[in-house]
Amino acid sequence: MKNFVSIQDVGDPSALVKFAQKLKSNPYQLEELGRRKTLGLVFLNPSLRTRLSTQKAAYQLGMDVLVMNISQDGWTLETREGAVMNGTSQEHIKEAVPVIAQYCDIMGVRTFPSLTNKETDYAEKTLQAFINWSPVPIISLESATLHPLQSLADMLTIEEFKKVANPKIVLTWAPHPKALPQAVANSFLQWSKAMGHDIVVANPKGMDLSPAFSEGIEVIHDQNEALKDADFVYAKNWSSFTSYGEINTDNEDWILTPEKMAMTNQAQFMHCLPVRRNVVVSDAVLDGPNSLVIEQANNRTFAAQAVLAKILGYEG
Ligand code: CP
Repeated sequence: MKNFVSIQDVGDPSALVKFAQKLKSNPYQLEELGRRKTLGLVFLNPSLRTRLSTQKAAYQLGMDVLVMNISQDGWTLETREGAVMNGTSQEHIKEAVPVIAQYCDIMGVRTFPSLTNKETDYAEKTLQAFINWSPVPIISLESATLHPLQSLADMLTIEEFKKVANPKIVLTWAPHPKALPQAVANSFLQWSKAMGHDIVVANPKGMDLSPAFSEGIEVIHDQNEALKDADFVYAKNWSSFTSYGEINTDNEDWILTPEKMAMTNQAQFMHCLPVRRNVVVSDAVLDGPNSLVIEQANNRTFAAQAVLAKILGYEG
């Protein structure tokens, strides 16, 4: 594996999930693989889980780690080709990326969308600039439109907790007061399709995801209908794809409550975190026995470890 920025970089997603599960069973089994190799983690946006789990994954492979919150601690980055830098930007990405690459063997980068310009966001301009200017492999720590490390961890979680061979999984939109990216949902659909899961999307009218991701998947605009017989409920807000970046404030009743969960087949509850309590999901569901959110976050470590090991050349 050269880069890991989308599921397209993975030859066999199902095998990668199994490999992550194997690493979880004995996290230090490849502790020599990354010795004298350095992982650089560059954050243009905030993170708790991605930052800590990816560091831990690297340590478990014997790697050293450099972390930089570049938007807070670095010079203001310019990404435009041919820019006249007489404004606020102080360093061009064309220098910054190869300079960082000199200090590491693999680079991770997190970059969020603007949610104001769909074409620019879906072209993944910033991530592509990192790929273009980096001589070392790039791992997405969440980009404008995709979050593959999260989805790999989610697939591992489903494998671990499923009670039937082919569980029904419902990805449901949930309310949120701020405009959020579509990245987690987009990636979740890509990975679910690749794994052959029985997946349904539930969202209010006007909140459909890009057809590039939902193609071939049933989309239901009645949440109660979608939740029937669900074995897993994955809640996530996303802002509008069609009215790009707009917040939907009309559907507060899409919050996941015990009453909603009672419509399911005693479904297990998933969310990538962070989550706004009693807006997206009620306390009773999040704190209940069917909530998988903490284990999902734990699995981020083994997802990252599997990806790092493959990029380091592990072929087992
Ligand atoms: N789920 C996730 O990516 O969490 P962070 O934003 O905290 O990294």
